[in-house]
Amino acid sequence: MRHKDLGNTCVLGLQWGDEGKGKVVDLLVEHFDVVARYAGGANAGHTVVIDSDRFALHQVPSGVLREGVMNIIASGAVIDPAALLGEIESLRQRGVRLDGDNLRISDRAHLVFPWHRREDVIAEGAARAGDKIGTTARGIGPCYADKAGRRWGIRVCELCRPAGLRERILATCAYKNALFRAVYECRETFDANAITAEYLAFGEQLRPFMCDATAVLNGLIRQGKRVLFEGAQGALLDVDHGTYPFVTSSSTTNFAAGAGVPASAANSILGVAKAYTTRVGRGPFPTEQAGEVGDIIRERGGEYGTTTGRPRRCGWFDAVATAYAARVCGPTHLAIMHLDTLSGMRELRVCVGYRIGKKIVNDFPADVYSLEEAEPVYETLPGWSGEIGDCREFSKLPDEARRYVEFISARLETPVRIISVGPARDQTIILEDN
Ligand code: GDP
Ligand code: IMO
Ligand code: MG
Repeated sequence: MRHKDLGNTCVLGLQWGDEGKGKVVDLLVEHFDVVARYAGGANAGHTVVIDSDRFALHQVPSGVLREGVMNIIASGAVIDPAALLGEIESLRQRGVRLDGDNLRISDRAHLVFPWHRREDVIAEGAARAGDKIGTTARGIGPCYADKAGRRWGIRVCELCRPAGLRERILATCAYKNALFRAVYECRETFDANAITAEYLAFGEQLRPFMCDATAVLNGLIRQGKRVLFEGAQGALLDVDHGTYPFVTSSSTTNFAAGAGVPASAANSILGVAKAYTTRVGRGPFPTEQAGEVGDIIRERGGEYGTTTGRPRRCGWFDAVATAYAARVCGPTHLAIMHLDTLSGMRELRVCVGYRIGKKIVNDFPADVYSLEEAEPVYETLPGWSGEIGDCREFSKLPDEARRYVEFISARLETPVRIISVGPARDQTIILEDN
């Protein structure tokens, strides 16, 4: 069995983001015709390493580095036009072809405006220490809030109607200026004329990429083209199912809603998880290792944010949280990333339950207070010593590494398809039988 037999596939993160989705999408994309990003926006940072080149992709789907692949930013994503055009330009400067033949953006996606980015920063600054989310400051929360609130959300299709856009921006600026003044005592005001001119110019530049994404995607599916749905963030950051309120504002687990395709459009779901856990930003993280173990993982794994450069919080693999994510997402296969990062540790711990008060629970609690209180119940597994970055076959991995992967697979009741032993494309072990 080869990758192409997975059929249309959704690649999504099963932890708090940064699982290595970019590497997995890039690795698989040779078997696909289309890559569709269905949620999130400039908060994402997906790394693809090709030989000595490292690309950090934010809004642009991770299929752009392969010729002949159509990349779609679907309706569930939010688009920051200034950042997207900057990203397109910097990719072009590095020799990546990007035009309407290989990149399309949904005319229904919501736009990020300067007031969204500003509110993200001001609201975080004004929040009490315990209430700060630790966002990426990309305006994601305020933009999705305006989308759900319906009164102030402005979509890509509106960039093509100058008179209507001007009116909408005028009204929105008046409201936002009043709000910022009253709530945040902010003197800075947004200039509706300048912003309208700026966004009309963005519209001209983005016009070749705009499309009815559901028509394009469903049309390609009907033609038998193979589609890979690229998730952003991770299941534990999902606005409905994650560690609310320490989540992002989109539905990271629901590719069908975001892409505008039926749920039956994906034949496989590839759940991506690191062999340990990381998190950026605030929020509960029961298996966090603030001391030496966390430092070793951070340094060996290069655990610094792709988008913000922040050091990532690091800890042991949490099988309670990840099994919960797997229940929500239903992965048919797993990709276990960063196995190499754990080499050299004498023993490894995997959290298999939480002690909360006097009880041991195996289910992931809803409220962050319980999660903050949760003490992990660990199983300890033996580590391995040698480097494994050159290993390409499962049978050649040290016994302890194989046992560790098998243990995770059993806890999540899901077969492992990919084991990643380094950032490069070829530092990968494929388990074809799974
Ligand atoms: P994404 O947001 O899920 O695409 O993940 P990020 O790109 O934000 O973070 C993953 C980081 O780990 C990137 O720097 C990758 O180059 C790197 N990476 C991916 N897989 C592996 C692996 O198996 N081993 C090591 N050492 N690094 C990896
Ligand atoms: P990728 O796609 C890791 C986190 C932020 C913060 C919370 C809310 O690279 O895996 P937001 O800016 O979305 O309002 O921030 O979510 N976060 C991510 N963490 N990887 C990401 O994306 C993330 N996108 C958002 O750090 O805790
Ligand atoms: Mg990332």
